Amino acid sequence: MRFDILTLFPEMFEGPFRKSIVGKAIEAGLVTVVVHNLRDYATDKHRTTDDAPYGGGGGMVMKPEPIFRAVERVLGEERPSTRVILLSPQGHLLTQELAWELAAQNRILLICGRYEGVDDRVGQHLVDDEISIGDYVLTGGEIPAMVVVDAVTRLLPGVLGDAGAAMKDSHAGGLLEHPQYTRPAAFRGYSVPDPLLSGNHAKIARWRRREALRRTFERRPDLLKKADLTEEDKEYLRGLEE
Ligand SMILES: C[S@@+](CC[C@H](N)C(=O)[O-])C[C@H]1O[C@@H](n2cnc3c(N)ncnc32)[C@H](O)[C@@H]1O
Repeated sequence: MRFDILTLFPEMFEGPFRKSIVGKAIEAGLVTVVVHNLRDYATDKHRTTDDAPYGGGGGMVMKPEPIFRAVERVLGEERPSTRVILLSPQGHLLTQELAWELAAQNRILLICGRYEGVDDRVGQHLVDDEISIGDYVLTGGEIPAMVVVDAVTRLLPGVLGDAGAAMKDSHAGGLLEHPQYTRPAAFRGYSVPDPLLSGNHAKIARWRRREALRRTFERRPDLLKKADLTEEDKEYLRGLEE
């Protein structure tokens, strides 16, 4: 899988992609991340990438020409097989389901906006998707691009030590994950729940499933409408409702 990122601030990506699981995945050749400076694709000698908005108002808007040019030059003949995404607070919300869908792509190009945003012709005529990481507004698309790269990379084969880990995480089957504990079994009078100390795998699995259901019911009941539930799950949830 290869990510290309178009940004006015390439240096922002130096730290986050050097460390941790994403850094290791890059080192191991499981994913490639190439960051491109949009200024290199400006069409005038001042390397201008933004201009005042038509219709007035404050701030600046990112010009379309450097972005179209960058996408065309970076992708060339690979444009049709690449998913081109504009990060935008107006886009589809990034969900675990969408992260899985993106993880099936061979190549993704992410465009980071800045200022008041990006000339709308980019959204209308250049990109395949607009993606938002949440209902709030950030100063630029760089952090959202990092979020997309992180969420997708950890789903790629070989990236996580435990191959099945991503399938057990929150949102994987539509539920929040069960609570996790580690040693010590008792800490400041707070103990680890008994089933986890029992050594009985069936009992542990049952406890975890029920805790995942309880957590989701208490914290994100909206998720239950779309979750994959067995008859036993439904019966347990009915018990919680009473
Ligand atoms: C200050 S925002 C522009 C917001 C724009 N004026 C609006 O109201 O829709 C600048 C850039 O940050 C990025 N951005 C901000 N919030 C985002 C979010 N929640 N998800 C994805 N990208 C975001 C986008 O690339 C956007 O073009």
